[in-house]
Amino acid sequence: MKLWGGRFKEDESKLMEDFNSSLNFDKRLYKEDIIGSKAHVKMLAKCDIVTFAESELILAGLDIILTKIEQGKLEINGDYEDIHSFVETNLILEIGDVGKKLHTARSRNDQVAVDMKLYTKSKAIEIIDYIDELQGVISRLAEENNVLMPGYTHLQRAQVVTFKYHIMAYHSMLGRDKKRIINAVDLLDESPLGCCALAGTTYNTDRDFTAKELGFKKPVDNFLDGVSDRDYLIELSSCFSLIMMHLSRLSEELILWSSKEFDFITIGDEFSTGSSIMPQKKNPDAAELIRGKSGRVYGSLIGLLTTMKGLPLAYNKDMQEDKEQFFDALDTVMSCIKVMSGMLSTLKIKAENMKNAVKKGFLNATEVADYLVSKGQAFRDAHGVVGSIVLYCEENNTVIEDLTLDQLNMFSPLFRADVYSFINYKNTLQRGIKKEISD
Ligand code: ARG
Repeated sequence: MKLWGGRFKEDESKLMEDFNSSLNFDKRLYKEDIIGSKAHVKMLAKCDIVTFAESELILAGLDIILTKIEQGKLEINGDYEDIHSFVETNLILEIGDVGKKLHTARSRNDQVAVDMKLYTKSKAIEIIDYIDELQGVISRLAEENNVLMPGYTHLQRAQVVTFKYHIMAYHSMLGRDKKRIINAVDLLDESPLGCCALAGTTYNTDRDFTAKELGFKKPVDNFLDGVSDRDYLIELSSCFSLIMMHLSRLSEELILWSSKEFDFITIGDEFSTGSSIMPQKKNPDAAELIRGKSGRVYGSLIGLLTTMKGLPLAYNKDMQEDKEQFFDALDTVMSCIKVMSGMLSTLKIKAENMKNAVKKGFLNATEVADYLVSKGQAFRDAHGVVGSIVLYCEENNTVIEDLTLDQLNMFSPLFRADVYSFINYKNTLQRGIKKEISD
């Protein structure tokens, strides 16, 4: 069923019809399409382009279609080009010829643009809620596990931190992710409805009215830009890519920490899987899948950029390709945030193992050097002295804080008894990241 055909002599090939149809994937825009159409028809009545009575019939018809879809009485499938054709055709079937007036002073080009913006805005807000939830899980986990942990650079033990401090780094990253989404929504928040196909309409329409009705800040300034702007999908896909990169880094840490080599955490059975051959295995599949799925979100970003890069103004059918890529990125990032929240809620921290790793890692070596500096030595010289002490400890299977003062004095006469409290892990933490620790 088509909304065009008047100027065609031959029927469209079935192959082309299937190739051209977006209904399969733009069906998820049904609600936004109806909301956009309702705003449009209200405006048509306000501007005397249709009568008030006609607009009432169309509005009621659109509501019936929405209800039927939501109650499963009208299935979105069949021989339609897209969701816009589906809604309009079914409206005409529902209320008769008056339904044919809906598309006055509108094109599917501004219609799809407004549908996508409405959908994107509501989903972006949903994502922010999911991130809030994940941040809440992270804060709880942090509060409950304010315990010593090695901090790493180059994946080598470097300085002492706490698990709380480490995990709260992800809280900060997610905070930036939220701000980026809010900013992207702010930029997209202009209504393209009324731009029509590309150059507006000869009818005296009111774009301010529809923009306000649909909750946009204002109508877009330029019609050509309004119908062919997909920046917001690219920008949000970039925001999603950053979220996925953050989740992927966290996943990588969870995978490492749950290995026997680290043995810092246990991921709950609810978010782990087993091996079909090796009975002892408990695999961190949830974290691995999140890490893996970051690739497809980046793929969508590159795909969207590539789709748009060569398009002359204004609308081109290439732009229909925005949907599957964007929807896939959206669905993926949403499910990954939810799974990460679920998985982190099951996390058990092995505080004792983390503490042992701190001790064995010479994580107070920098502080020993700082101690010598506090006694008047230049840092570079102190660095050399402490390097020799670490070597000595490794050869004698001990740690710096367990050396006697006599042993320390073999390396430098500057060591006094106060060195032990200076290099005590909890004290160094309080001077460094300045966080209270409970253990
Ligand atoms: N399905 C189309 C899309 O997603 C809707 C717009 C069609 N416009 C047109 N001039 N054929 O882009």
